Amino acid sequence: MIIGVPKEIKNNENRVALTPAGTQELVKRGHTVHVQSTAGVGSGFSDEQYVSAGAKLLPDAASVFAIAEMIMKVKEPVEQEYNLIRKDQLVFTYFHFASYEPLAKAMIATGAVCLAYETVERIDGSLPLLIPMSEVAGRMAIQEGAKYLEKPLKGRGILLGGVPGVRPAKVLILGGGVVGTNAAKIAAGMGADVTIMDLNITRLRYLDDVMPKNVHTIVSNEYTIREMIKDSDLIIGGVLVPGAKAPKLITRDMLKSMRPGTVLVDVAVDQGGCIETCRPTTHEDPTFIIDDVVHYCVANMPGAVPYTSTLALTNATLPYAIRLANQGWKKAAQENMELRNGLNVIQGEVVYKAVADAFGLGYTDVKKFL
Ligand SMILES: NC(=O)c1ccc[n+]([C@@H]2O[C@H](COP(=O)([O-])OP(=O)(O)OC[C@H]3O[C@@H](n4cnc5c(N)ncnc54)[C@H](O)[C@@H]3O)[C@@H](O)[C@H]2O)c1
Repeated sequence: MIIGVPKEIKNNENRVALTPAGTQELVKRGHTVHVQSTAGVGSGFSDEQYVSAGAKLLPDAASVFAIAEMIMKVKEPVEQEYNLIRKDQLVFTYFHFASYEPLAKAMIATGAVCLAYETVERIDGSLPLLIPMSEVAGRMAIQEGAKYLEKPLKGRGILLGGVPGVRPAKVLILGGGVVGTNAAKIAAGMGADVTIMDLNITRLRYLDDVMPKNVHTIVSNEYTIREMIKDSDLIIGGVLVPGAKAPKLITRDMLKSMRPGTVLVDVAVDQGGCIETCRPTTHEDPTFIIDDVVHYCVANMPGAVPYTSTLALTNATLPYAIRLANQGWKKAAQENMELRNGLNVIQGEVVYKAVADAFGLGYTDVKKFL
């Protein structure tokens, strides 16, 4: 198969969909890989590295889209890319269709086959191509939180791990899923006093078993959250109710009970946030302050660490990309339920129910194409 990897052009997006190592794996299996010049630079991969792994370089996005049977990207296509996508071309990337109608309509109009990272789903309901970004964001939440606790950045001026004779900071983590677990691991490793709150007792039981001694678990409810936030130094929001907006676990009035300089990192901001006062911010201007409480609400946290994020993402996407290249999307989707779940739009028809429902579009059963 002929595979094309364009350079990402979305604002501040430095990730790339395929690494030189991934290129080598595809080339080894007899596929041709065309990479747009400088596509990997933001993630630390030079054109020379791609060429020595067997890729062919192309000067611009137009030539990559023109030649490829499968386009591998990271972010959803942006407007300049809409017209480059061809009928029957397979596009394998994050789409998040349900959140942006013009994109859904544009992809329907192209007649392309859109396989979305975010809906590739295992039989147990887990989302293997979303997990790596939650791992990155969870770990980063503590790194950022620790930084904004510093006094010059308007935090309480407390060191996460304390020092001998001085107590460590208290970290409260709302949600014990992928984000919460990764945040807890890093915070505990830095010596903080960590509490994870979740509704799911089975999950808390598991976390209690595997986490170190300085991590405690508490069932999530409004009363306890109100108690806990009074003396927490850093609060991480990592809850998710699949398919719904995040519940507002910390409301506007609760800020008054927090100590000045408390830091809130609402990782769930991409689902509306679980802290009422959060609004999405960017890496250029990540924080704002309300009632002396620092809010960090960056919607694309992994974008700040493109090297790690690219490797984490491509480690997860490559096995699927190899299957798609070896078998073509149709056979791959017939044989692999996870990839079948990833199909959202095929040749002008919406085959993913939630996307069709989001915009009142017609829905076609994917079986029609397989
Ligand atoms: N900002 C970013 O850059 C970024 C990056 C990656 C992920 N995210 C977001 O982070 C959020 C969490 O993702 P995840 O992968 O950890 O999800 P997950 O499904 O693994 O975990 C969510 C957890 O929240 C728990 N939960 C639900 N309601 C709760 C409540 N009322 N109180 C306490 N816990 C509750 C669930 O039981 C579950 O354990 C998602 O919204 C995701 O989109 C954001």
